[in-house]
Amino acid sequence: MRKIILAGNWKMFKTQAETLAFVQDFKPELDELPEGREVVLCVPFTDLAILSKSLHGSQVSVGAQNVHWEETGAFTGEISAPMLLEVGVRYVVIGHSERRQLFGETDETVNFRLRAAQKAGLVPILCVGETKLQRDRGEAESVIFQQLKAGLMGVDQASLVIAYEPIWAIGTGDTCATDEANRIIGLIRSRLDNKDVTIQYGGSVKPEIIDEIMAQPEIDGVLVGGASLEAKGFGRIVNYK
Ligand code: 13P
Repeated sequence: MRKIILAGNWKMFKTQAETLAFVQDFKPELDELPEGREVVLCVPFTDLAILSKSLHGSQVSVGAQNVHWEETGAFTGEISAPMLLEVGVRYVVIGHSERRQLFGETDETVNFRLRAAQKAGLVPILCVGETKLQRDRGEAESVIFQQLKAGLMGVDQASLVIAYEPIWAIGTGDTCATDEANRIIGLIRSRLDNKDVTIQYGGSVKPEIIDEIMAQPEIDGVLVGGASLEAKGFGRIVNYK
């Protein structure tokens, strides 16, 4: 059975104080959360411990935004799976386009991170997606298939989430048409051995369009940037109809 997972990616937003204020406003939004939905918040490293503690006993899981493949070592600025597990992390975003484009992440390092996350018992959320130029050239499918092929080598598909995030739709307000997102996600699924992998859509997801997105048969959830920073709006998203 495919799980429904609604995740927020806070990127580099919110201090600990802002995190606590968010939790206070967000908790009431969970009062009538329908059964069978998982909510995840992927937050900056400094917010992880306080978020785990303040959400303890709620239906929300905590996620990180990166993980290194070694457990310890001379890797300045990186973080390891045991460090994340210790502060209550369950999910980790890997291969986000911002890491690929701005911080030199490659399919190979994505693959290392995925395997290390799984080995430690974290559930990775693998991000894939094409640029505007690649889409205009008709290369969207081949780019995504390559990201999947290289990224998923040796990865256990029983403990995996994939997010389709077309880069041109991230932070632009230019959401991918829902039927097109559905089509690409169906294609991604066709490439997987395990057809029950949760596949999310991400890119300018807003409360106003969440019902339409989640009505698509192939889409099992969303990965939300900007709109996950505001408790009421993200509350509307997790309570989609
Ligand atoms: P936005 O929802 O702000 O477009 O960001 C999407 C994203 O990158 C989630 O990982």
